[in-house]
Amino acid sequence: MVLAFETSCDETSAALAHEGRVLANVVSSQVAIHAEYGGVVPELAAREHLRNLLPVAREALRQAGVGPGQIEAVAATRGPGLPGALLVGFRAAQALAFVLRRPFLGIHHHEAHLFSPWLQGEPPAAGFSQFEPNVSLVASGGHTMLVAVASESSHRLLGSTLDDAAGECFDKVGKLLGLAYPAGPEIDRLAEAGNPAAHSFPRPMLNEANDDFSFSGLKTAVRYFLRDRPGLREDPRGLRDLAASVQAAIVEVLVGKTLRAARRLGVGCVTASGGVVCNRALRQGLAAACSARGLRLRLAQRGLCTDNAAMIGVTAERKLARGVEATPPDAEILPSWPLDCLERETLTLGLLGAGPGTR
Ligand code: KG4
Ligand code: ZN
Repeated sequence: MVLAFETSCDETSAALAHEGRVLANVVSSQVAIHAEYGGVVPELAAREHLRNLLPVAREALRQAGVGPGQIEAVAATRGPGLPGALLVGFRAAQALAFVLRRPFLGIHHHEAHLFSPWLQGEPPAAGFSQFEPNVSLVASGGHTMLVAVASESSHRLLGSTLDDAAGECFDKVGKLLGLAYPAGPEIDRLAEAGNPAAHSFPRPMLNEANDDFSFSGLKTAVRYFLRDRPGLREDPRGLRDLAASVQAAIVEVLVGKTLRAARRLGVGCVTASGGVVCNRALRQGLAAACSARGLRLRLAQRGLCTDNAAMIGVTAERKLARGVEATPPDAEILPSWPLDCLERETLTLGLLGAGPGTR
């Protein structure tokens, strides 16, 4: 029975995981607080985590019907993320583990994202018996990356964004259009009734022979586009077409680069997670492309795409089962923790060393 915390950005979350099953996953989002500022304010986020952490943890225990005596291990996100935000969950979890005399595990936030597509159902349960090597797309407001996942304990970063994350691009374009933060869900909604071919925006780095992304140029293209059409924001049809056209550019790049990496590495499976994977056009685009190439696709369930402690708890449980050592009590948070410096026991697998466009 693992009690897990996630506080790396603007979601305060606590979850209980037992034998691959998520018994409770409580998420308190701070979106309304940060909306006023058009983005996450780190100090406000840390303060809100401090206020919310214990009520969220108590609610998770209540929903799972679990008492403190039943907790066998405690886990928390160690990094990467906002330092002040990470500190709240990490230190609270360490203290709890110390008091309960249970092992504590600090988990890499992106490693947990890699495994969220394997959690399916309601309540979610891990399907790791079906695990197969895959290329995983993690796309959110803070990160956009492609990872070769050879096994549960070995993966390699193939590429990531050189500037803005995909979600950041949705949010910044939304801001230009006068939409509230975070704008991704609203652009998704507007795009549904818009024409994706109405305007041709750049597809940055789509045809470059690497697994990196860049979205800041796309945002700039939209800024110039709007400068020349000052009335567009007030025109509902124009707004819908613009939303659909920008979304089509982002989706085409994400789908194109993910599928190319999968083909190059010869994997039979693609997975995807992160807030942007809530996007309907992206889900459909990945599904169509994978089906056309005979690849199996595993998308994280919508509720587990955005940041949550369930993925932290399940990742921790699997690590403990593999005999991974507990994180020492004097360990610090790692706000810039690289993804590659994790377990290395199976690094000899071919997939990890494969292909051009590696770094
Ligand atoms: O994973 P997440 O909750 O946290 C991080 O910020 O890392 O992702 C939030 C991001 C925001 O940028 C938001 O605009 C985007 O995910 N997002 C979407 C959709 N839902 C959330 N972007 C496009 N379409 C959506 N439906
Ligand atoms: Zn995340």
